[in-house]
Amino acid sequence: MVAVERSKIKELRLDRAAPVTLTDQICQHVEAAILEGALTAGARLPSWRDLAAQLGVARGTVKAAYEKLIDRGLLTTAASPGTRVSDPLPFKGAPTVAETECLRPPDFQHRSEHALVFQMGVPADDAFPATLWARLHRQAVHVTALRTGYSDPRGLAELRSALAAHVAIARGIECSPEQIIVTSGYRAGLAMTLRSIDATGKQAWVEDPGYPVTRLALELSGVHPVAVPVDGDGLDVQQGLELAPNAALAIVTPGQQAPSGAAMSERRRSELIQWAHVASSWIVEDDYLAELHLSGRPANALASGGGSDRVIHLGTFRKTIAPMVGIGFVVAPLPLARRLIDVATWLGAPPSVASQLALAEFLREGHYLRHLRRMRRLYAQRRQSLLTVLTSLGVNNAVPAGLSVLLPLPNGFDDEGVAIEARHLDLGPAPLSLWYANASRSHAGLLLGIANVLERSIHHDCKRLLAIIRAPLTGKGSFNTALRSPE
Ligand SMILES: Cc1ncc(COP(=O)(O)O)c(C=O)c1O
Repeated sequence: MVAVERSKIKELRLDRAAPVTLTDQICQHVEAAILEGALTAGARLPSWRDLAAQLGVARGTVKAAYEKLIDRGLLTTAASPGTRVSDPLPFKGAPTVAETECLRPPDFQHRSEHALVFQMGVPADDAFPATLWARLHRQAVHVTALRTGYSDPRGLAELRSALAAHVAIARGIECSPEQIIVTSGYRAGLAMTLRSIDATGKQAWVEDPGYPVTRLALELSGVHPVAVPVDGDGLDVQQGLELAPNAALAIVTPGQQAPSGAAMSERRRSELIQWAHVASSWIVEDDYLAELHLSGRPANALASGGGSDRVIHLGTFRKTIAPMVGIGFVVAPLPLARRLIDVATWLGAPPSVASQLALAEFLREGHYLRHLRRMRRLYAQRRQSLLTVLTSLGVNNAVPAGLSVLLPLPNGFDDEGVAIEARHLDLGPAPLSLWYANASRSHAGLLLGIANVLERSIHHDCKRLLAIIRAPLTGKGSFNTALRSPE
């Protein structure tokens, strides 16, 4: 006979202050125990009376929880006394934690719900306009209750109009709302683009160093990334021509190269546009940060100038407002717009209507431009504080790199290992080596995102990070004077 599985239920702690009812907490706990394999098919559960006494709740509370789980087929009272886990279960047993271990993204790619200190590619958590956004979102949710049908697969007309007006002012792009497709962010826009230009099996120039996720996206789409070196002027078009003259597309970050932060020079821009025209290739402009330049005027978008009919412009609000907003957009050049819209219709995945309406209002009321102005000031201050603190701690080789600070490390240094160790301390630097296509350690370094660097804790956070970096350097003499602790 199967023993009553009291021990599995013993760890159940109820939180009486939680917004979840006690019945639902019991349900969730029993369900989790079944899914994790702690309660197996056929296992007998304690009686309502016993469990209620153990938890100090009314019997009816436990009974209601068991009944909910019986309705869902997870528990049964049929054919034997007492309540048991259904045998067979209505689903195949879940794989064990060990079996799924390899499915977790590597630590450095982990995206936590709250930004980590030094994490790249996330805006300042503490500067998100939470009250305003909550109000706009609440209003939008009310409106959606009256609009329950399918919405336009290109995104809501209100948002596309607001976006067309915004890119005209902020990025110099003249386009009609009909050319705009709302997406869930850069990556979704890139996926649509690759599909719409039939890129599978072809070559694509990517920046080297460049955003690792872009390379991954290409590989997963059956497109061959060709790493083209980047210098202070941006992607080296001549080298691209030598490496892959027949590439079907080039993916670039001309506003602020990722990760160096440099804007693409005028000469390179015109070489790139000329190449795209002559070769009938496409340029994908990843404009992820262009509005957040920290000095001088922002470089114009590639999609704003002559020859822009070969440029597919991808924007995102995940970096400038918050990842949670989950909205980006594509500005489709006219020759490709029809095809892109067909792909968007087929994928059928525009973001939630409420989020689109809230963002449309945020743009229309001028909040977005104000927010960007505030963020530029804040990030400039945070970058300066970080550089000052690093210098005071004996680091004399750190350099600004867009919304990050690059801390070069000696050749051969295990920057990925440092990043993984730092995560255990809730610090999120990114290893530079992984931004190179040939992720050897000849380009070791750490990219320290500045957005979540706080004045009150920056000194302590830098010291903790430097302790990890310096541990393997200790005792290696002049291995890297730049990173030696000040005496
Ligand atoms: C260069 C670059 N492009 C695009 C993105 C991603 O944008 P999204 O989150 O909208 O997919 C990132 C994110 O860090 C990035 O670094």
